[in-house]
Amino acid sequence: MPSDSLTLTDNRTGKTYELPITNGAIRAMDLRQVRTGPEDFGLLSYDPAFMNTASTISRITEIDGDRGILRYRGYPIEELAERSNYLEVAYLVLHGELPTLTEMDQWVYDITHHTWVHENLKKLMEGFHYDAHAMGMLVSGVGALSTFYPEAKNGGDPATRRLQVVRLIAKVPTLAAFAYRHNLGLPYNYPDNDLSYTGNFLNMLFKATEAKYQPNATLERALEVLFILHADHEQNCSTNAVRAVGSSQVDPYCAVAAGVAALYGPLHGGANEEVLRMLAEIGSKDRIPAFIKGVKDGNAKLMGFGHRVYKNYDPRAKIIKRMADEVFEVTRPSPLLPVALELERIALEDDYFVSRKLYPNVDFYSGLIYQAMGFPVEMFPVLFAIARTSGWLAQWQEMRADPEQKIARPRQLYLGSGQRAYREIGKREEAPGGR
Ligand code: ACO
Repeated sequence: MPSDSLTLTDNRTGKTYELPITNGAIRAMDLRQVRTGPEDFGLLSYDPAFMNTASTISRITEIDGDRGILRYRGYPIEELAERSNYLEVAYLVLHGELPTLTEMDQWVYDITHHTWVHENLKKLMEGFHYDAHAMGMLVSGVGALSTFYPEAKNGGDPATRRLQVVRLIAKVPTLAAFAYRHNLGLPYNYPDNDLSYTGNFLNMLFKATEAKYQPNATLERALEVLFILHADHEQNCSTNAVRAVGSSQVDPYCAVAAGVAALYGPLHGGANEEVLRMLAEIGSKDRIPAFIKGVKDGNAKLMGFGHRVYKNYDPRAKIIKRMADEVFEVTRPSPLLPVALELERIALEDDYFVSRKLYPNVDFYSGLIYQAMGFPVEMFPVLFAIARTSGWLAQWQEMRADPEQKIARPRQLYLGSGQRAYREIGKREEAPGGR
């Protein structure tokens, strides 16, 4: 008779154990009872990079990587990208439901009225070297917010938590825009409360001498969609960083700064920057076959392809690819777009990529759009970070409210030296070639 359990026989002892299966998983802690004797610590599961470990129960984002499905709180990403806007999606991700009219009005009001940052934070940003990477500035700026709001340490209080959530979603674009203006040696622009979330962001980036900045409606909407697509993506590297750091009960500014730091890496938020570099290096369609050969020989990676979870076309990549045409109608068409399209076509017909289920991910086309909109490559992961702030905070809130969560602390399998006796420095043998 079938039962929701796993029967496990330890061949070292001949003992049999029955482990319950709940929601398709066994509890790793149930393995602890599997021991060879009283001195044995108990069986561990070894899972570098969490390839098959669920670290939490979550109700925020659902991904079915094999079927190319992404849903926030049950709503398909395609529908949200088509019909919603970023702040509404941020509300949904954070609160679990789409807002009513009254809730939405209050939410937009709250975010809009927290966009300003303390002047000392501006001074901090001014202290960076002229060519400091925008992500480095953002990591520091977000971390520094923690020092302005010491009450944020009281993460157990829902009202305090909500205020920090509002502040972060409101202020991250301001810091991001300051970082951009800093790199150009331009005075920082202050937020304009009359504009939408993305319209104001464009204003803080691009306003020059005009009295009132009017964002281009197509670009404002494109940014809105790109932000929606990046709002959350369940337990990815940066979200895991936010949860792990936040599990020490540090304030959310420090936890989100950890997320920004994780996103900085080329395998995560830095991938679209790498895609552009790669496309520029390839340069023209005729050089694609040689590049593909190099990838297959292990000399390079096809950046913007492959995903830990999606083993099918990333649904976000499909939406971005469609949006690219609308953006290029407003901006100049990207000279690298034909290279990208041809690269995708060739890769999707090549057995190397097909057999490994490597499809374009969200970053394959996003860089081209950002570039056409006038963003330097250093700003690409910054744009990602602005959008992902709502997801990080939703995950942080969920983690703080989850009675099962404790400080995150993985185990290790120690395979280093056994006990050794200390020798004075002069009595140690020099290693022949140095160490
Ligand atoms: N180009 C060439 N080969 C690749 C690529 C790629 N982009 N991605 C994976 N592979 C190959 C690997 O070499 C491996 O081959 P093997 O089985 O012969 O050893 C196989 O496909 C499986 O890949 P893994 O590295 O095991 O997959 P993993 O899940 O660890 O990595 C990752 C996922 C990091 C995204 C990887 O696909 C990659 O580096 N892609 C390029 C970077 C990128 O686009 N990152 C953005 C991800 S999306 C995001 O963060 C928003």
